[in-house]
Amino acid sequence: MSAQFVSRPLVIAPSILASDFARLGEEVRAVDAAGADWIHLDVMDGHFVPNISYGPDVIKAMRPHTKKIFDAHLMISPCDPYLEAFAKAGCDQITVHAEAGPHLHRSLQAIRALGKKAGVSLNPGTPISAIEYVIDLIDLVLVMSVNPGFGGQAFIPSALGKIRDLRAMTAGRPIDIEVDGGVGPDVSGALAAAGANAMVAGSAVFKGGTMESYKANISAIRNAAALARGEAI
Ligand code: DX5
Ligand code: ZN
Repeated sequence: MSAQFVSRPLVIAPSILASDFARLGEEVRAVDAAGADWIHLDVMDGHFVPNISYGPDVIKAMRPHTKKIFDAHLMISPCDPYLEAFAKAGCDQITVHAEAGPHLHRSLQAIRALGKKAGVSLNPGTPISAIEYVIDLIDLVLVMSVNPGFGGQAFIPSALGKIRDLRAMTAGRPIDIEVDGGVGPDVSGALAAAGANAMVAGSAVFKGGTMESYKANISAIRNAAALARGEAI
């Protein structure tokens, strides 16, 4: 196992989409205490994806409930008019979709200019070549392992090969490889072995509905991934 392989820290990022929206602050505090590294925030507009979730004001309301990194996943088109609002709401890193508009390079420049980490997400049908000419502008690549729009969908196995290819493409650069959709302890080991270091999980974290279950769920995802990385549990 090369040093490069383990150079990006393992991150578990619960997706708030699967939480109880009537108790958002409480849910954020619960996953924080249960061991979340980042809080994954899915923003959907009913246009780029066939579902609507929440926007900057709701994220702003969650912000005081944790000091953990706010990892925003914007499934919106256009995204440029809203980047500043998400930055001001307290997002630490902002990921836009490569498919969301004609000016990916401009969007990434804008996120960096706001002082935030910039990410690009790739739908299952989008090749990794989409990031080739923006690679100097990105801190994170988010590989969708479901078609975006809904939680609770089945993991698409072709994400594994895509992650392997991305790992080669980003080698030697400080870029996180994050995976999102249908992720649980059953696949987190294979994903880590392929080269993903950040695991987003909605249903697999929030099932059970209690702090104790969140803790066990996060540990199960983390332990399977850590084992595949050759790290002590
Ligand atoms: C899907 C979202 C995901 C979603 C994952 O469009 O981007 O973050 O919440 O949910 P699970 O883990 O249930 O597949
Ligand atoms: Zn997401």
